[in-house]
Amino acid sequence: MFRRGMIIRLDLPGHGGGNWTIVTKTSSFSAPKGVPDYIPPDSAEFAAVRDGLVRAAHLAGYGLLELPIFEDTALFARGVGESTDVVTKEMWTFEDRSGNSFSLRPELTAGAMRAVIEHNLDRGQLPVKIYYSGPCFRYERPQAGRYRQFNQVGIEAIGVDDPALDAEVISVADQGYRALGLTGFRLEVTSLGDETCRPQYRELLQDFLFKLPLDEETQRRARINPLRVLDDKRPEVRELTADAPLMIDHLSESAKAHFDQVLGHLDAMGVAYVVNPRMVRGLDYYTKTTFEFVHDGLGAQSGIGGGGRYDGLMAELGGQPLSGIGFGLGVERTMLALRAEGKSAGDPARCQVFGVPLGDAAKQRLVALGSQLRAAGVRVDLAYGGRGVKGAMKAADKSGARFTLVLGDRDLAENTIGLKDMSTGDQRQIPLDEAARLVQEALVSE
Ligand code: HAM
Repeated sequence: MFRRGMIIRLDLPGHGGGNWTIVTKTSSFSAPKGVPDYIPPDSAEFAAVRDGLVRAAHLAGYGLLELPIFEDTALFARGVGESTDVVTKEMWTFEDRSGNSFSLRPELTAGAMRAVIEHNLDRGQLPVKIYYSGPCFRYERPQAGRYRQFNQVGIEAIGVDDPALDAEVISVADQGYRALGLTGFRLEVTSLGDETCRPQYRELLQDFLFKLPLDEETQRRARINPLRVLDDKRPEVRELTADAPLMIDHLSESAKAHFDQVLGHLDAMGVAYVVNPRMVRGLDYYTKTTFEFVHDGLGAQSGIGGGGRYDGLMAELGGQPLSGIGFGLGVERTMLALRAEGKSAGDPARCQVFGVPLGDAAKQRLVALGSQLRAAGVRVDLAYGGRGVKGAMKAADKSGARFTLVLGDRDLAENTIGLKDMSTGDQRQIPLDEAARLVQEALVSE
């Protein structure tokens, strides 16, 4: 009946008519496919999840790095990996007016390394500990939990190759989720080896894969990035690769010692994990410790966050040969995981106190009282536009306020104001001059 993009104008009697007029717009706009909007009150949940994850990073001494939304396309090709789906199929790439190729960031680690090198952070105190929060863009097929614009909160710790740091990074994510109330996730960890054992393992795996009756595309993948074949979800490929050699069984002594120590630290911190030797991350820069947080309540898009070491990335991007480790946590998927557990985050209420003025003099007094309360840190909204008492009280209800202040002419004359408790419905008169203090006390005693 009513379509999006249709303007419905209600002309009230006395305002030039008395009919419904339906004006159909010839064109209408909607957000790009696969790109969510966050609107109140749900946006409060988005903000709470994002801020909760950021807080975990703060608590461990990570400082904010605010990065550009787009970067040189070559940075992602070199940083994320030329053979990855992210770079070959999913980037939003465009030329600027001078013919330079830029891409919307599909992730933030490459940009973070670029900034660390550009601003010489790697020449100061190590490890460099930074966090970021913001949108990423991947041209994927949209589905539940998979968007073309999504948000990540991430941290990176650069310049110290210490298993205790790996464990810290993992525990920051774990604590971030838990602080939001999330419990039903699983932490999977593995080691992808280092430059002393990975090349040999790659050959071993290729020897194994080349003997299998794989289709052409999968054979090609086995030549370019054999690890990726282990990530193939097709049952027939899973069966064929069931006995494939695993990196974890072919780690160099130092990589194995590093991994064992990471697990030891996780045990000591009480962070539960499972070792998943078949884990394959979608980005090419990973070495040694890699991990993923998986939530089974999300269907196919079950990865709520992931990360790992990337010890060659800084050098690859022209910086010093420093090690690094970090993670990116998906804000939207964390919201979905919370919902799957029947939990919520954030306060959808727009305000704590709602003011209902009845008459012009009352309005002036209430506007001033509202501003006084805001200055004291109370969230206040008012009924504007001379609504009747019924409409104003409805607005108070909708606002989610804890208390409503009702002020009429008679109250003004008596120097009192009505204070309504929105959860019980009880209303009492309080002295107008003391209203600011009394309202604050009532909120604190909650
Ligand atoms: P990633 O695994 O590609 O890692 O992404 C991290 C998280 O972002 C995923 O676990 C998922 O929750 C979320 N995510 C990814 N793609 C989408 C999508 N299309 N829609 C919704 N959420 C999505 C990285 O990006 C690395 N930069 C993480 C890292 C930092 N590694 C080391 N440091």
